[in-house]
Amino acid sequence: MSGAIWRVATCALLAAFATTTLAFADDTDPGRKQFLTSCGTCHTTDKDGGNRQGPNLFSVYGRKAGTLEGFAYSDTLKAGGWVWDETTLDVWITDAQAAHPGTVMNYRQANPDKRKLVIQYLKSLSAQN
Ligand code: HEC
Repeated sequence: MSGAIWRVATCALLAAFATTTLAFADDTDPGRKQFLTSCGTCHTTDKDGGNRQGPNLFSVYGRKAGTLEGFAYSDTLKAGGWVWDETTLDVWITDAQAAHPGTVMNYRQANPDKRKLVIQYLKSLSAQN
């Protein structure tokens, strides 16, 4: 239990830190901006950026869930057999715990405009693969 509390506290701290530093990044694309704000604490979309607390999302669009090599996914995400597209991503980031109960991604976003921005951004990266 204390481990979980520590993780939440660390995450809050990282989120505060990321918001401060990323505000100075030269990122004018609104989708990328939203991504950095909402997801950047735990994920990167840099092609060679590796995994953070969450897996690298450079090539996530069109990828089967839970299949990036070198990342230790939860069983629930792997067992779901999802493929990441506009619909599944939207359900997932609306409330990750509801989409895959027991997942280690603690995230939800109630604002459909913000979700859409992030999803369009992730989709745009798939064209660069
Ligand atoms: C607090 C950290 C955290 C935040 C914030 C977060 N994620 Fe995650 N994400 C994770 C973790 C941890 C996993 C692995 C989940 C599992 O294995 O159950 C994950 C997994 C994922 C996956 C599955 C990838 C794959 O390879 O199957 C997607 C897609 C994803 N996150 C998208 C997002 C998006 C988009 C956002 C922002 C809107 C976001 N995440 C915000 C931690 C986070």
